[in-house]
Amino acid sequence: MTTVLVLNGPNLGRLGSREPDVYGSGTLDDLRAQLEAEASGLTIDLRQTNDEAELISWLYEAVDTSRPVILNPAAFTHYSYALRDAAALVTKAGLLLVEVHISNPHAREEFRHTSVISAVATGVIAGFGFDSYVLALELVKRRLR
Ligand code: DQA
Repeated sequence: MTTVLVLNGPNLGRLGSREPDVYGSGTLDDLRAQLEAEASGLTIDLRQTNDEAELISWLYEAVDTSRPVILNPAAFTHYSYALRDAAALVTKAGLLLVEVHISNPHAREEFRHTSVISAVATGVIAGFGFDSYVLALELVKRRLR
């Protein structure tokens, strides 16, 4: 059975109480339950960290175990070249890496308009709330078929 890594960067552990006007009122546990309901036999391994090094080590793990990745890099999106280089290892290994965002960063502050991750991701889904992850999971399912 294929495991999909659903990796979440800084401050996403606070979903539910963090800026609900932007991110909604659902928590990461709600997101996990929603993805598990849509998993169609895939295993969902959803994690969150505020630590850049830990997030990078999880991308290495994806490469070493050949697992597809759904990644919300959160604020690291906008400036972490280290995370970008690790994300490139995933896609260069021929694995799917879907960059997701709950909000639409392009409709927000200027600094959010740049993603240093997008160019090395397989693709990007943003602006659909938790449905951004559900759509990414749908893509993973299609590609695995
Ligand atoms: C985010 C958008 C980022 O700009 C922000 O720093 C986040 C969340 C999103 O999911 O909309 O933490 O990645």
